[in-house]
Amino acid sequence: MFARFSEVAAERGGADAERDIRGFALKFYTEEGNWDMVGNNTPVFFLRDPKHFIDLNRAIKRDPKTNMRSSNTNWDFWTSLPESLHQVTITMSDRGILSSYRFMHGFSSHTYSLINANNERVWVKFFFRSQQGIQNLTDQEAAQVIAEDRESHQRDLFDAIEFGQYPKWTLYFQIMTEEEAKQVDFNPFDLTKVWPKEDFPFVEVGEMELNKNPENYFQDVEEASFNPAALVPGIGVSPDRMLQARLFSYPDAQRYRIGVNYHQIPVNYPRGVKDFHPYSRDGQARMDGNGGGQIHVEPNSYGNWKDHKDMAEPPMDAGDVDYYDFRGDDNDYYTQPGILFNRMTAEQQLVLFENTARAMGDATLQIKHRHINNCYQADPKYGEGVAKALGIDMHDVDLTPTPRDSDQANREANARGAADLNVPTEPAQPASANDLPEEGRDTNVQDPTSLTGIMEDPFVL
Ligand code: HEM
Repeated sequence: MFARFSEVAAERGGADAERDIRGFALKFYTEEGNWDMVGNNTPVFFLRDPKHFIDLNRAIKRDPKTNMRSSNTNWDFWTSLPESLHQVTITMSDRGILSSYRFMHGFSSHTYSLINANNERVWVKFFFRSQQGIQNLTDQEAAQVIAEDRESHQRDLFDAIEFGQYPKWTLYFQIMTEEEAKQVDFNPFDLTKVWPKEDFPFVEVGEMELNKNPENYFQDVEEASFNPAALVPGIGVSPDRMLQARLFSYPDAQRYRIGVNYHQIPVNYPRGVKDFHPYSRDGQARMDGNGGGQIHVEPNSYGNWKDHKDMAEPPMDAGDVDYYDFRGDDNDYYTQPGILFNRMTAEQQLVLFENTARAMGDATLQIKHRHINNCYQADPKYGEGVAKALGIDMHDVDLTPTPRDSDQANREANARGAADLNVPTEPAQPASANDLPEEGRDTNVQDPTSLTGIMEDPFVL
């Protein structure tokens, strides 16, 4: 595993011994991919609504005019959001300035899911308790430390590891069942609140030890990417809106900060996985084989990149949050193409058939049959015309309609004919539309403005 501890308000070069929360980011290289636990050293946060996050950063960082930190702006912001009081109370307390990174606890802060082999969920919060204990500085002590050493926390951690005094943390879970979550009189997904320890006891799980310093700070630490969406089977997210916002924000930032192929950088590479084959392709500085010649689309007719339904999490109760299978509430794909087809003149229909046939080139017979069937469902004449242009006998095509009313049903329908039709074809070169008069068509119209009226345009349904 790999850990990065960080300051929040201070930029690079800021003094370590400041009153501030600290980042507590962990990366576990499991056999099923990386799990990033991107937490802080406090159990709560200033906000519960992600729309305020950008303002939080502005509030704690520099004033646009003076380029100095502003207590006024900072406290104006905090005091205007009463939900920040829990975090502010911790930050202003005796525990607000740690003496070193070794002496802080780590928290997921958010609620996450734990999902067992039967796909049953419980809610969980992660706690990493420092085995070194807790040690903090007063304002006066901190001023003294900063006067003498601006890198006090990094120095302490680096030296401890260098001299073999490896710091350790014990991992605990707090667990809440989905049923309990409905009963408690607070929102268990509210990042500004904790779960009372009497009601939700801590379960000891294991420990982590930091026993190696990075060899090269830039490559091993600056280029690290932590991402709350980097999860492994068995760990999922929750309806916490702050967490939901973070799931998108981090990888966006990383594509910008370290490049689109940041997963190739050794510290980020999921080294625990034997056969890592990311779905991402191309982009600057790609150098891991880029997926070779593998098929790179899904769905496809070759069984590559199949959805792992077995990895799907159970739906969340908060309004049945789940994969939205639009085919369940609308599987009419054919009515409108059918109407459009019938708006075309006979010449345009012929052109459509033959353009389609040429464009399909050497696609397999299975794919050509699939398209004929789709066209046939829109209008039998459409299917017949395309089949003829492709040089395929309609009697050979299975024209039975399939409901395609779920993602699964769609896959099954696509697989039709896989056993014997999965063979390349000769490209068709139909030519009977080549010499059609231009009358009744939209190409080379004498007066193109005749097609500008929306209501008169037959292609507008
Ligand atoms: C809506 C809320 C939040 C948003 C949009 C947000 C966004 C970000 C972004 C964009 C980064 C930089 C990522 C990178 O360049 O690699 C970052 C860093 C970080 N965030 Fe957040 N964040 C949010 C809340 C939180 C919370 C609640 C926590 C802790 C529980 C947290 C912990 C961290 C840590 C530890 C880092 C530094 C990770 C590292 O060492 O690379 N953030 N955040």
